[in-house]
Amino acid sequence: MAVKVLVFAGSARRDSLNKKLARVAADAVREAGGEATFVDLDEYPMPVYHGDDEAKNGMPENARRLREIFLAHDALLIASPENNQSVSSLLKNTLDWLSRSLGDGKGLNSGLAPYKGKLAGLLAASPGIFGGVRGLPHLRAILASLGVTVLGAQVAIPRAHEAFEDDGRLKDPAHVKAVHLLAEGVVHTAAKLKEAPDPPRIGQDSAKSR
Ligand code: FNR
Repeated sequence: MAVKVLVFAGSARRDSLNKKLARVAADAVREAGGEATFVDLDEYPMPVYHGDDEAKNGMPENARRLREIFLAHDALLIASPENNQSVSSLLKNTLDWLSRSLGDGKGLNSGLAPYKGKLAGLLAASPGIFGGVRGLPHLRAILASLGVTVLGAQVAIPRAHEAFEDDGRLKDPAHVKAVHLLAEGVVHTAAKLKEAPDPPRIGQDSAKSR
């Protein structure tokens, strides 16, 4: 069965450079033999996480919908904008809401369920000269804390406002190649993780025994 990769950007902006990059990455996943689902976070607006709001209203409907989509995929490809050298607040807020437990918090209701055992590949695009690369270690750490295995390879596109053709393709063959290699890495490694009987959960197992 083909590996299912959920692809999204940490920006809701209509002309987002990271959405463009995410769409290119989704095509690359398909070329690598995976199934790609592109999701636009603009279609899943949710409030900034607030504990009182959660206590009163529970998880927002859009977070629940997105959570179901996460659960149905094997891997993530995330194109993250860099805000003040870290991830966007939209991306962090979305990941935070989805990490909240539902009901009894067990099994698929666990806050880790949308993440645990998944593989992720990271990309970034920025008009700046660093291409958003300074935010990616932060995203890597957030995902690792949720039980996601993040590929070492990553792609950052500097001067991204000049990097795309009008039809959305990347202009520079080196960028095209880098995105394809990352997508192949995600599809092939996620296929191997899927075959593994039980993905490594070292942190959670040792936490249990504390
Ligand atoms: C930015 N931007 C930015 N860019 C960058 O390369 N490094 C940075 O640290 C920041 N910091 C930053 C902070 C805030 C609050 C904003 C609003 C913007 C610029 C940002 O990367 C740029 O607007 C991107 O184009 C946003 O991503 P999308 O929407 O094009 O995907």
